[in-house]
Amino acid sequence: MNTKTAESDQHAEFEQAVMTGLSLPQKSIPCRFLYDERGSDLFEQITQLDEYYPTRTEVALLNAVRYDIAQAVGPGVALVELGSGSSTKTEILIESMSDLAAYVPIEISETALAGATAKLSKKFPDLRIFPVSADFSNTVTFPEEVRQFPKFGFFPGSTIGNFETDDAIGLLATLRRILGENGLLLIGVDLDKSTDILLPAYDDAKNVTAEFIMNILTRINRELDGNFDRSRFSYVVQYNEQFSRVEMYIQSDADQTVEVRGTEFFFKKSERIFVEFSHKYSVEGFKNLANNAGWRSRDYWIDGDNLFSIHLLENTLK
Ligand code: TRP
Repeated sequence: MNTKTAESDQHAEFEQAVMTGLSLPQKSIPCRFLYDERGSDLFEQITQLDEYYPTRTEVALLNAVRYDIAQAVGPGVALVELGSGSSTKTEILIESMSDLAAYVPIEISETALAGATAKLSKKFPDLRIFPVSADFSNTVTFPEEVRQFPKFGFFPGSTIGNFETDDAIGLLATLRRILGENGLLLIGVDLDKSTDILLPAYDDAKNVTAEFIMNILTRINRELDGNFDRSRFSYVVQYNEQFSRVEMYIQSDADQTVEVRGTEFFFKKSERIFVEFSHKYSVEGFKNLANNAGWRSRDYWIDGDNLFSIHLLENTLK
């Protein structure tokens, strides 16, 4: 698919998702649309915030246990990166695994894929790189050259936490099928903890996260002829005990009507648009989830402050 087609597809998908999402009794907008150019830039800033502990904790933990990981995985595997844009973390693995058969970044955005490939081929000139442009929530066709190697998937960032339980199991099962018989998966999972730490991580003092979430209204105004007045909406974060998840919403500050692509949507005062979940797991809770998707724990690591976990999973259904 060329970039133009990919872009107009995205546009049509965005329109369809917004029109449908704003018509639901619980209004919602899927979080994947947060990442336009400004959104991606804001997310990068979030990962550097004092309050946002996951990124720096995962990187430090990876650094601390990288040779344990290399040993547990063994030689001769193809490292399959699920969604690049995480190449700093991947570099830690590449540096500690001396006998990788290949590196296979999988990514929808061809621009991001080309970027990751260029950067890593410069840094690791001897590494064989086979970029694949695909949506790994569907199916992936590996290039002939890497088919024979056992696959070692890498899915950092606790992105799995952004899926509801059933969808998380579905995605883990899809990854298991993609990575195949001798497949392994290294996955970063944020741990459940006090709301004193969790809430500020998603509602920082500089309001970068609020801007990241509210930017979706700006995107709707720009791309879908919307007329959201951002000064009449606020960002709201809450922790849902029952589901162990942080929930992120945009709340209407007044009764108001908003127009998108010529259709009117009514908001009651205090009505919310749901934008994102971030589920938090215990080590056992995540192992259970993985078991339900046909994975078994080979090993796991957590940092000294019990903030974040990294799990190494192996395929049980050969
Ligand atoms: N996977 C990240 C997380 O759940 C995504 C994320 C970080 C995020 N900060 C956010 C999503 C703020 C929405 C809002 O931590």
